[in-house]
Amino acid sequence: MEQIVIETKTKQYPLFLGEGIIESLPDILRQLSFSKGTKLLIITDKTLEQLYLSKLRALLANDYDVYTYVIPSGEEAKSFEQYYACQTAALQYGLDRKSLILAFGGGVVGDLAGFVAATYMRGIPYIQIPTTLLAHDSAVGGKVAINHPLGKNMIGAFYQPEAVVYDIAFLRSLPEKELRSGFAEVIKHALIRDRDFYQWLRQEIRELADLKGERLQYCIKKGIEVKASVVREDEKETGVRAHLNFGHTLGHVLENELGYGAMTHGDAVALGMLFAIFVSERVYNISLDYDRFSSWFRTYGFPVSIPKQLNINRLLEKMKGDKKARAGTVRMVLLKDIGMAEIKPLDDETLLALLRKFQREEGENDPRNSRCHYC
Ligand SMILES: NC(=O)c1ccc[n+]([C@@H]2O[C@H](COP(=O)([O-])OP(=O)(O)OC[C@H]3O[C@@H](n4cnc5c(N)ncnc54)[C@H](O)[C@@H]3O)[C@@H](O)[C@H]2O)c1
Ligand SMILES: [Zn+2]
Repeated sequence: MEQIVIETKTKQYPLFLGEGIIESLPDILRQLSFSKGTKLLIITDKTLEQLYLSKLRALLANDYDVYTYVIPSGEEAKSFEQYYACQTAALQYGLDRKSLILAFGGGVVGDLAGFVAATYMRGIPYIQIPTTLLAHDSAVGGKVAINHPLGKNMIGAFYQPEAVVYDIAFLRSLPEKELRSGFAEVIKHALIRDRDFYQWLRQEIRELADLKGERLQYCIKKGIEVKASVVREDEKETGVRAHLNFGHTLGHVLENELGYGAMTHGDAVALGMLFAIFVSERVYNISLDYDRFSSWFRTYGFPVSIPKQLNINRLLEKMKGDKKARAGTVRMVLLKDIGMAEIKPLDDETLLALLRKFQREEGENDPRNSRCHYC
């Protein structure tokens, strides 16, 4: 079992990583001083309930008072309704400030359960037990949130867990499109901060099927190290943490325009990263070997062009409405080189022209764009 220490200004906590390590959860809870009889509330989703919940409960039932609350699977569960229902369950089960919430699932469960923990009785401890590849990103750093109909992740907090217990054996049941989605964030971490890791990825992960065993664990470890180093420098997103938004300015807008769930988060981010590379080459007048990126992304099955029917003016308007835009100017994360990210404000005219060019040129090169796969 590997252990990585996640450090922020407000807290330090361990992340345990390995295959089959869930068996050690009772020991880990003891190490963290959760004594016998502590009330635990496992928040999980329907898919994980069916696959693993009875096993997880059985592991803990001898020592702890275990309760569960199951949300529906998928992004829609990051809602006020589910948030409220979790709080109701916590109150009915009599959780107090010494109780512990276990967020057992992907980013949706992690974000929701973390926000429940952040606000229940002004904050109680919680532990992240991630089960998706994407959650290597969401389970580290303490950003927790729910969605509002007017915007994703609009209601939330910065609230760090007591620990993260990442058993990669859970990832074996992950559908391919979810694996690809999480892999986009792994690539993101390499591109913004770690050139060597990027080269390793190109060499070692030839196809999604390579994401297993030691290689998968290495991807997760390196991704977490980048995320942790950024969060250590800037917990509350006043500076470099914004680099983690690489690929997300356009990515979030695509998800929103197509309707959540139509395109996975990672697919949208991958396309957003390609656009950011396209923009970087033109803004800095450098070559990042865009064509190689585009064909590399294609080998995993990421989308590589903006669906034809999407209106560029609308995309721009939404990009300006992003939480990270300031005074209506879009601030994109660009690459000065592989491993070197920078924030760049871009005026409307420049961005509109680049979006048009990207949609036109890449659309022509993308054989899949004869019809839209997401609508
Ligand atoms: N807090 C952060 O810093 C941060 C960072 C990135 C993303 N996020 C958030 O994360 C969310 C996306 O997370 P996600 O991609 O993990 O989505 P998710 O939690 O919805 O999981 C994706 C799907 O896979 C299923 N699943 C999960 N684990 C499984 C397993 N082991 N086997 C089989 N199926 C499994 C789920 O039921 C779900 O249907 C978004 O809401 C995003 O905003 C947060
Ligand atoms: Zn993301």
